[in-house]
Amino acid sequence: MTRESWYDDAARWNTRYTNHPPTFEPHPLVARALAAGVPDGPVLDLACGRSGSALTLAERGRRVLAVDVSDVALHQLRAEARRRGLGDRVWCVRADLRTFVPAPRTFTLVLATLFWDATAFRAAREAVAPGGLLGWEALAATAGVGSTRFRVRPGELSAALDERWEVLAEDIGEGGCESRRRETCRVLARASRE
Ligand SMILES: C[S@@+](CC[C@H](N)C(=O)[O-])C[C@H]1O[C@@H](n2cnc3c(N)ncnc32)[C@H](O)[C@@H]1O
Repeated sequence: MTRESWYDDAARWNTRYTNHPPTFEPHPLVARALAAGVPDGPVLDLACGRSGSALTLAERGRRVLAVDVSDVALHQLRAEARRRGLGDRVWCVRADLRTFVPAPRTFTLVLATLFWDATAFRAAREAVAPGGLLGWEALAATAGVGSTRFRVRPGELSAALDERWEVLAEDIGEGGCESRRRETCRVLARASRE
């Protein structure tokens, strides 16, 4: 990935986020993670966009590190966090997830919704603290879709988790970046306590 294409990606997302007002809805995986039990500790939200998930988790007392390539999304998220009095709980970092390496075994929930990159997935897996959760959703590479570069096949997410993991749920659902609904694969898994 060249520096130029990284900027292209950011520019494309910035245009989208500038032209569509945010909803700040949390992703359904957040409710599922909370119901399963998230140990005390910091949360990492990767490819966060204008994350309602980060806001919801911060409202529940969590410190959230929110990472995205789009400075427009991060600016909107930071402004909303401040407006809700959560500015000291939501930390926004602009980074390219293809090279970003979060601190290993640190976060009690690592979340990524509507994003896929195999390198980022491996780094996310390592970033989960013992006993913590990994929640991931990516567009599904099911019949009839064109390029599969940014998609995963059903079962691919859990297959990338070794014996350190207990898969709590894996399904094909309907997700979407705010107003755009599309078929997705989701997994929620817990790391072993060791
Ligand atoms: C489909 S949106 C998902 C946003 C949010 N997670 C949600 O569920 O609504 C994909 C997000 O990935 C971000 N993104 C794309 N490529 C990225 C990269 N290489 N590094 C970091 N963020 C990236 C975009 O800026 C965008 O916010």
